[in-house]
Amino acid sequence: MQRKVTKAVFPVAGLGTRFLPATKSIPKEIMTLVDRPLIQYAIDEARAAGITEFIFVTSRGKSALEDYFDHAPDLEASLRMKGKDDLIEALEPTNMESGAIAYIRQTHPKGLGHAVWCARRLVGDEPFAVILPDDVIAADKPCLQQMVEAYEQTGGAMVAAMEVPPESTPSYGILDVAEDMGRMVSVSSMVEKPTLGSAPSNLAVIGRYILTPSVMNHLNDIGEGAGGEIQLTDAIAREICAGEPVYGFRFNGQRFDCGSKAGFLQATVAFGLARDDLRDEFQAYLRDMVALAKAAQ
Ligand code: G1P
Repeated sequence: MQRKVTKAVFPVAGLGTRFLPATKSIPKEIMTLVDRPLIQYAIDEARAAGITEFIFVTSRGKSALEDYFDHAPDLEASLRMKGKDDLIEALEPTNMESGAIAYIRQTHPKGLGHAVWCARRLVGDEPFAVILPDDVIAADKPCLQQMVEAYEQTGGAMVAAMEVPPESTPSYGILDVAEDMGRMVSVSSMVEKPTLGSAPSNLAVIGRYILTPSVMNHLNDIGEGAGGEIQLTDAIAREICAGEPVYGFRFNGQRFDCGSKAGFLQATVAFGLARDDLRDEFQAYLRDMVALAKAAQ
């Protein structure tokens, strides 16, 4: 039996420069898909996987995130007075039990690995999950839950994995596969953002991880990697060198790269179409748009 994964780290310190000017005054994790901010999707997924302690690694300018997960007594009282029970219900997922959420600051933007390392004292001596809220995954069973179930059988460390086109490999952490077991692969090495043509495979790391606490020691020791940053991928690669098992997990679901504008728009369309209250109107609109675009060709 593996030790249960109850803690998750959410690296949310990034500046979100790709979404300027929007991110001049709001954290990118507060940007909304339909009516829920990106961070809400990440928290919902963590909860479904059994996570009960949420560790946010933040930076200057992210206080909107703290407010978002705080109770809003005035707002709730005014909604209650107006009998807007449905809206009070909509606020429910934003409520956090006191003490369940912790915020620590990454004071220097030294990369994803460094952000995770900042959480080392709160993580302690336990396995933990990492969720990158930019990667939104639509799935019948939430991705991290799929991974936790698999991890209960395997132990070790596990990263979500997905095949990407060879020309996209320089944007990802890429797995070198020792053995391909279908849904799961065992990993012999990992490389962060390989140069074009040098990737060991086209199996990319997607932003969900289950890690052992020893990865924090490797994060402590490693130097700068790709892009001059402390890379999580490099620390996991060290785990493998130290003889620890690391698995890639091909999840069921559709991943959207909400760190890019095109990915964000695609997610907006997909999540809009998935909504019972919006589908008919939105679908009709999209059909008209496509017909107009075709006619204009
Ligand atoms: C990060 C990780 C990378 C991973 C990617 C998934 O990169 O460093 O290994 O493949 O997330 O989205 P970033 O997108 O932050 O550059």
